[in-house]
Amino acid sequence: MKLLVTGGAGFIGPHFIRHVLQKYPTYSVVNVDKLTYAGNLENLRDVEADPRYRFVHGDICEAAAVREAARGVDAILNFAAESHVDRSILGADEFLKTDVVGTFTLLEAARELKIPRYVQVSTDEVYGSIDRGAFRESAPPKPTNPYSATKAGADLLVSAYWTTHRLPVLITRSSNNFGPNQYPEKVIPLFITNALEDRPLPLYGDGKNVRDWLYVVDNCAAIDLVLRAGVPGEIYNIGGGTEVENIVLTRQILRLLGKPESLIQRVTDRPGHDRRYALDCHKIRALGWKPGHDFGAALAETVRWYREHEAWWRPIKSGEFKAYYARQYVDRA
Ligand code: NAD
Ligand code: TYD
Repeated sequence: MKLLVTGGAGFIGPHFIRHVLQKYPTYSVVNVDKLTYAGNLENLRDVEADPRYRFVHGDICEAAAVREAARGVDAILNFAAESHVDRSILGADEFLKTDVVGTFTLLEAARELKIPRYVQVSTDEVYGSIDRGAFRESAPPKPTNPYSATKAGADLLVSAYWTTHRLPVLITRSSNNFGPNQYPEKVIPLFITNALEDRPLPLYGDGKNVRDWLYVVDNCAAIDLVLRAGVPGEIYNIGGGTEVENIVLTRQILRLLGKPESLIQRVTDRPGHDRRYALDCHKIRALGWKPGHDFGAALAETVRWYREHEAWWRPIKSGEFKAYYARQYVDRA
């Protein structure tokens, strides 16, 4: 099987590429990535010499480049996106381009080239917030911030290509991922690396927002299963089944690092901050998936990874991230 993976130099993409190359000796992967601030070829050092892997520096909004890369593949998996809520609040241009137009460009290529399978990697955020219970796949999207709105728009387009053109599409909607190589703008790597630097951990609002944490490796196994066994036209929720309040998560990170709770700094809340995300995962479980990692052990492993890989995150935090972070706090003040 030959796969086209887009956005394979970000956080989840490299874990997925590693997963398939290790698990399936006959698979090959073409990775198209624009290498935005979030793309980092360091995340793929261990696979770059594999003859079954090829990197293409490209933009999923460019139709000719996409068609060229997609020719002859058995499946497209679209991981490429602008993925950070806070950045989408500062400015949403690139979110509309990559998340919506980029998805459209890939769908058109898949249709023209008659690609047998298209997997859209989406998010639980498209459902919006839920106070009690959990969203099933049939729940209507109700996104609340520009990031989730563009992801929801993309999902609707993907579903429309099934209904209208019978393009064999599948959508995965996972909960918050964490693990090695996550860009330190997201809460877990931000808080780990800030704590390692003895800097404040900026906790939004009352700290009681809830996220359902999923170890990235488990998400990759689920996406692989959906690719192979999912029913075309269907959506699959993928949740970690571990709901944690942000304040509890923050204390857990500090404990793992042996750092004091005085590092916690309460800051103004994110505008439109979704209170709680929760997914009903019966459908993916019926396909034969369940999370394979315990949250506490996986968090400890993630903390260990950041502790041991300062050479990975220090250049990021003193580079592009620094300007972003400064802007984030000027704008919110
Ligand atoms: P990421 O931001 O770490 O990586 C995104 C990658 O896409 C980067 O390598 C970037 O260079 C690339 N990219 C951006 N614009 C591009 C373009 N126009 N053309 C080609 N490449 C482009 O994201 P991630 O955390 O790895 O998430 C991957 C996917 O999973 C996204 O679609 C995201 O919405 C979804 N998702 C993420 C999470 C999470 O917790 N991280 C949870 C659910 C769903
Ligand atoms: P984040 O990692 O940005 O993921 P998402 O917004 O996609 O869920 O944030 C996870 C939670 O952590 C969310 O409730 C917002 C909160 N958060 C903070 O309290 N402080 C921070 O600096 C960041 C980045 C997030």
